[in-house]
Amino acid sequence: MDDKQAYFQSLARAYPTAHDLRERARRLMPNFAFSYMDGGAGTDQGIDRNWAALDAVELAPRYGKVARPPACGATLFGRSYAAPIGVSPIGGPGTAFPGAETYLAAAAQAANVPYTLGLLSGIDVERAATIAPDVLWFQLYRFARNDHVIGLDLTRRAAAAGVKVLVLTIDTPTRTTRPRETKSGILHPFRVTNRLRLDALTSPRWMASMAKNGSPRFASLKPYMKDNPSLEEAAAFIRQESGGAFTWEEIARYRDVWKGPLVIKGILHPADARRVVELGAEGMFVSNHGGRQVECLPPAIDVLPSIAAEVAGRATIIFDSGVRSGVDAARAIALGADAAFSGKAFLWSLGALGADGPAHFINLLSDDLRATMGQLGCATLGELRGVDRRHRNAWRADGFNA
Ligand SMILES: Cc1cc2nc3c(=O)[nH]c(=O)nc-3n(C[C@H](O)[C@H](O)[C@H](O)COP(=O)(O)O)c2cc1C
Repeated sequence: MDDKQAYFQSLARAYPTAHDLRERARRLMPNFAFSYMDGGAGTDQGIDRNWAALDAVELAPRYGKVARPPACGATLFGRSYAAPIGVSPIGGPGTAFPGAETYLAAAAQAANVPYTLGLLSGIDVERAATIAPDVLWFQLYRFARNDHVIGLDLTRRAAAAGVKVLVLTIDTPTRTTRPRETKSGILHPFRVTNRLRLDALTSPRWMASMAKNGSPRFASLKPYMKDNPSLEEAAAFIRQESGGAFTWEEIARYRDVWKGPLVIKGILHPADARRVVELGAEGMFVSNHGGRQVECLPPAIDVLPSIAAEVAGRATIIFDSGVRSGVDAARAIALGADAAFSGKAFLWSLGALGADGPAHFINLLSDDLRATMGQLGCATLGELRGVDRRHRNAWRADGFNA
């Protein structure tokens, strides 16, 4: 065993679960950074219900067979990945942990799992493509001014950079604020205040990463902004240019321009899932944005079975919202997802362990998924999809209109 492997084994002993990472991140990060990465809409009920809903899904094992080593390699949109797990898009990740995008992209490339660069990131799509050339997905919000000139240009840039999958997020029709973020001193529109500066000084790890990586920026948008905008000016630019969520008609335009796999993020209703397929998109994220938008949404896992039944065989389903472990990933796959991604837990890993955090969390997810498959008696992801399950809170197809 080399030193690196021994080091990651020691991390697995000290921080064996996402919640261990979360608690360490809570201790080590400035309050505003932890509140940004961890906080949800309202009183965090949406987050709690995502977790409780996943916890309530039971999978029944079958014994008495010769044990076969579980294989969890996954093909998504025609490309092979080491496991059906990945990193969800995160906007402004540098606020949570400076340099987050670089560390996440490098860890995903090394592990051969998908990394989704959020549009509002500190490295641009071209730079991300040099760090994660084989596994890069790219997420866009709606930048509709001047007939989508920025959004469509970003789409062309993504194709030129070799992005594998384009993700259009549709679950942010209105701007929301998260109370924990607001109480921690993060202002909307964003401004760097003395309160934030003082808070940052309490965290040597956050400050060291900031010294190394620079302050948060919106690098992919640089060509469209005036030279060297301040953070406040960049935030004002984004507010002016963006807003609302993609309409189906707009998605059809992006479908025409983007020739690669197109994925719509934020689907919670079978009728919307059907629309995604009808528009010719190859996939969707079944997601409630990790409980960050509004807390009355259904837990994404509870609508997954109806959506999977609606689009069976016609679209690839990525699940996110609440995934903390390989057991959660197994639950999502058993209920019809092709892969399970995480957002917050990757940020906890950075807050807890710095640059090594994402690789450790990818190990946790994939080792735990393999162990879960082995325990259930499943050697393949196909077998995992067939396990008997109990999911009392699943939305039934007749619970939806249209
Ligand atoms: C700090 C933070 C920023 C996020 N920014 C974006 C974003 O820019 N675009 C997007 O589509 N989703 C964004 N999300 C949502 C994630 O992509 C994902 O849907 C969510 O985190 C999944 O739930 P989980 O955090 O419980 O794993 C963000 C999530 C977090 C935690």
